[in-house]
Amino acid sequence: MPAASPDVKIFLKDAATRTDAYLKEYLHALPESPKQLTEAMAYSLLGPGKRIRPALVLLSYHAVGGSDAQVEARAMPPAAAIEMIHCFSLIHDDLPAMDDDDLRRGRPTNHKVYGEALAILAGDALNTLPFHIVASRIADPGLATKLVMELAFATGPEGMIGGQVLDTCHPDEAKKNPLPLGPALLPKLQQIHRMKTGALIRCSCRMGAIAAGANETTLALADTYGRAIGLAFQIVDDILDVTSTEEQMGKKVGKDADKGKLTYPVLVGLDKSREYLAEQVRIADEVSAKLGAKAVMLSQLAHELANRTN
Ligand code: IPE
Ligand code: IPE
Ligand code: MG
Ligand code: MG
Ligand code: MG
Repeated sequence: MPAASPDVKIFLKDAATRTDAYLKEYLHALPESPKQLTEAMAYSLLGPGKRIRPALVLLSYHAVGGSDAQVEARAMPPAAAIEMIHCFSLIHDDLPAMDDDDLRRGRPTNHKVYGEALAILAGDALNTLPFHIVASRIADPGLATKLVMELAFATGPEGMIGGQVLDTCHPDEAKKNPLPLGPALLPKLQQIHRMKTGALIRCSCRMGAIAAGANETTLALADTYGRAIGLAFQIVDDILDVTSTEEQMGKKVGKDADKGKLTYPVLVGLDKSREYLAEQVRIADEVSAKLGAKAVMLSQLAHELANRTN
């Protein structure tokens, strides 16, 4: 796949800087939050992540014609909110009861630093604050309601949390009822990936378009794009778990096979996994072309994410 254009790299960097400043300001305006809780939240929220989801909110907002003057008022609250939900999902994903990981973003996982109880509670707090951010900082009540609904749906049982349940339960279920590992299991795997990872990515794209005031047709295009890159993102995560190194990823690798997780490489091998990835990138390119010149970075981002190395 062709390398990503420098435009999108600059956009991603700016979006990350802007999101971090917004999140920092918000976290420091919680005077009654216990100090150790704020510290545990800040550790994950302001740690060295890629900030892809907030960037997607902003990118999608601009791609469908959102006004530059309204970014702070309409797009930044959902951008900050989705990064909080993502960090909550990572803290809980790493817990001993789930993936039991001790390395994340090149540093010890939240529970290794703050203990399990505080990590669970920091995750909980990062699952409630996003709704407060959106409800309190979006002046238009109609828009705030729509965004809260998007966030709640994408996070909950039919979204990320539901996907984490399917992902977590699969190894035990497979022990009780072993099925041959192969393409027959692809529909189940695709459902897990679309939910555990795809839902928040799709939600980011939808919220950007909604914040920009997109009509139904345009929102449907943003949705299609989000679904495609959401699935693509987890296919890459699966591939990198096999092909990359701990230094590169900032997290343990080879852990999916060890834990009996369902992944693309396990079911279809690396070459076929890359074909499935390319198909999602093709869909993303198609949407970007339909949306026209303003949306060219959507295509660039799809290639950037497909070629990412961490
Ligand atoms: C990691 O997400 C978890 C998955 C959904 C695959 P990211 O790769 O976006 O993690 P950070 O935020 O950059 O650390
Ligand atoms: C993560 O999937 C999905 C989440 C909702 C966090 P993984 O378990 O594969 O993510 P990593 O590899 O630990 O980042
Ligand atoms: Mg996991
Ligand atoms: Mg994990
Ligand atoms: Mg992974």
